[in-house]
Amino acid sequence: MDGFVVEGWTAGGHNAPPRGAMQIDTAGEPIYGERDLPDLEKIASLGLPYWLAGSFGDRGKIAEAQALGAVGIQVGTAFAFCEESGIDPELKQKVLDGSRRSVLRVFTDPVASPTGFPFKIIQGGPETAIPVCGEGRSRICDLGYLRHLFRKPDGGVGYRCPSEPVGDYLRKGGSEEETVGRQCVCNGLISTLGLGQLVADGSTEKPLLTGGDDAVAVARFLEPGKTSYCAQDVIDRLLS
Ligand SMILES: Cc1cc2nc3c(=O)[nH]c(=O)nc-3n(C[C@H](O)[C@H](O)[C@H](O)COP(=O)(O)O)c2cc1C
Ligand code: SF4
Repeated sequence: MDGFVVEGWTAGGHNAPPRGAMQIDTAGEPIYGERDLPDLEKIASLGLPYWLAGSFGDRGKIAEAQALGAVGIQVGTAFAFCEESGIDPELKQKVLDGSRRSVLRVFTDPVASPTGFPFKIIQGGPETAIPVCGEGRSRICDLGYLRHLFRKPDGGVGYRCPSEPVGDYLRKGGSEEETVGRQCVCNGLISTLGLGQLVADGSTEKPLLTGGDDAVAVARFLEPGKTSYCAQDVIDRLLS
């Protein structure tokens, strides 16, 4: 091991679950608290470099991280919506527009991901043009990257995913409880790249857009009169 990325719960993508038994607030999100704050002194005592991540994509944040003993930062969300990112350009525009109008919301979904880890989802809604993933979708498992391996009664290895058709999952010995609220993250993420698979009914798989809490403020990278920004704009701001 060469070092550590210490990522807080505001970061994009999957998040570590809260320590202890999962508690959910009234909005349906996991409750994080004191126990989820990393003990950086202890991490430093391991003698390896570490980088801080999770809402560190802004000016002053490198210095803040260094003051906390880190050698630097890791940034995801700010780059996810820049011109060079592989996210579908139309989707990026919708996020930037939603950020500019302050109508974006980032939801930490405790069950959407079949991995079992909380997953950050940039929510669509009437005030944004971002499609709502999963709505009206018939379950199908046709990518399979997130399947879990399990031991079959005959001792062989089987594959199942809590987001696959419920009947299939139950037939493979999975519990119904495990399937509740699951989204097809494979298809959702591929669609986010503008490569959504065609569905039998003629529609296309909808994107499942992830981003950290910082996504609500990505419009800060837009210069006046511009509708997009580059990776270099992010770097300039990080270094300014
Ligand atoms: C669109 C997106 C996809 C991500 N995918 C992964 C991933 O597959 N694996 C991973 O370890 N981290 C992933 N991350 C987390 C980043 O590596 C990074 O640690 C995090 O985004 C930093 O916090 P920030 O989003 O607040 O900048 C992803 C982040 C974003 C925004
Ligand atoms: S997320 Fe979807 S495609 Fe991926 S393994 Fe699960 S059901 Fe299959």
